Amino acid sequence: MTNKLKTKGDQPPWPEPKPYTSNIFRRLARGWNSWLGLLNEWDFRISIGELNLLGKRVFLVNDPPLVRKVMVDEVELFPKHPYTLWILEPLIGRAIFSVNGEEWAIQRRLIDQAFQVASLKRVFPSMEKATRALLNRLDLKDKSNYVDIDEEMTMIAADVIIRTILSRPLEEEEANNIFKAFSRYQQRAGRALVMRFLRLPKSWIQRSLKRDASIIRSWIQSLIHDRLNHYKENSLNNIRPIDLLDTLIIAKDPKTNKSFSEDDLVDQVCFLFLAGHETSASSLGMAAWLLALFPDVQSRMRNEVLSVVSDRELDSMVKPDDIRQFPFGEAVFNETLRLYPPVSFFIRERLQTDTTLKAPEGKRRCPVGSLLTLSPWVIQRHEKYWPDPNCFRPERFLNQNENSNVRNAFLPFGMGPRKCPGASFAKQEAILVLAELLRRYELLPDANHEIELSGLLTLRSQNGIQLKLKPLEHKAKSSSETCV
Ligand code: HEM
Repeated sequence: MTNKLKTKGDQPPWPEPKPYTSNIFRRLARGWNSWLGLLNEWDFRISIGELNLLGKRVFLVNDPPLVRKVMVDEVELFPKHPYTLWILEPLIGRAIFSVNGEEWAIQRRLIDQAFQVASLKRVFPSMEKATRALLNRLDLKDKSNYVDIDEEMTMIAADVIIRTILSRPLEEEEANNIFKAFSRYQQRAGRALVMRFLRLPKSWIQRSLKRDASIIRSWIQSLIHDRLNHYKENSLNNIRPIDLLDTLIIAKDPKTNKSFSEDDLVDQVCFLFLAGHETSASSLGMAAWLLALFPDVQSRMRNEVLSVVSDRELDSMVKPDDIRQFPFGEAVFNETLRLYPPVSFFIRERLQTDTTLKAPEGKRRCPVGSLLTLSPWVIQRHEKYWPDPNCFRPERFLNQNENSNVRNAFLPFGMGPRKCPGASFAKQEAILVLAELLRRYELLPDANHEIELSGLLTLRSQNGIQLKLKPLEHKAKSSSETCV
């Protein structure tokens, strides 16, 4: 087996796109296990791509002004494509992520309200407790062996979101069942999308997804049912919210006076659990891997962390105010999201009227019903928008205001009114976890392990990420030293 882990200069390995083929069935076959297989090399050079798939127009939109047209300026005429709902409905029902119009607007107002109450400072203790649990687990590992850091990051990300939603930790046994069910769901959902492109019936596709979805849904359903039962005797006005579930229960839309019903809560919590752990796990796993591959970047991030917390015992963890003093840490996280965006594509549909898509190479007619793909994976590695697009260079994010690519061609959290409301949550969590790891360990890659990246609902390594964690000597400065 060749060792693709050998980085080329400052270019980490990635599943490189295949040479151009116009044969759509060959492309769909290449995309069976990972949608990244659908892409041609050419897609990373053009502003807009177009093909005809069994009579339907399909566009790949890369040009930043066109991306804005679709996601911001004419967002109502380019809603989420119905395929998004079809592949996710068995799992998240009609939750915020895949619905459109007024149904989405009401949900978004309720979710925004809940997120305002569950502010970053208020959710920090949940992140802190989950990080301590991770560090305790790592502490018990045999340090001469490799650790699957992807598995550990999945566990901590799920633990953070469960503690945030429900004020209780995620038990290891329930985690195992849920992760297995979700990983099967991901694999099937990716294929379901290819099958749907080939016009296979929706009901047939959804049936194959329901079995795994029901394992996750029935678990969440019972947790919500217990909480609502607990509140049965009380008026909702008397609830003093202690977690995100409480804030979702009491949220009321000022325009319509609507609140979430019990069924709605199950849909939303299923989605928030997924959104909150899959994406964070993906980005944390990739960030730890990149830090191991690039020891100079790792040292620079560690030095930045230590410059702020070196006078503290390890037991006293990084705080939200410290995190604001880690610009390089934030740049590392952004560069990870640029190269390995957890949500690596979005699909939209053109509604109401035909339109023209004007790109530097010329105009394209976009009829009603066309499918448009916008891909952070492609745009953030596009050779026209990023110098040395495949190289890992966190410094690009240090002078964000001077760097127009950061404003126009960086969309790991989406863009416009449907932008991710969990972006600051995810950043706080990632920088806390990485900082605490770097305070304790040197991260070393396994030169014999070649990760297999797959683009499914999220971007994940199919065979884990093996790292060695070499304990560092810790010396907290005494207070007399720091006062000099
Ligand atoms: C690194 C972590 C994360 C990434 C990369 C990410 C990415 C995204 C993206 C790209 C979208 C929009 C997709 C589109 O326009 O089609 C989205 C939507 C969403 N995300 Fe995240 N997300 C992350 C973490 C989180 C977390 C931690 C939460 C909640 C705690 C969350 C909650 C949501 C919600 C509720 C939406 C739906 C917004 C809407 O449709 O109005 N996300 N996320």
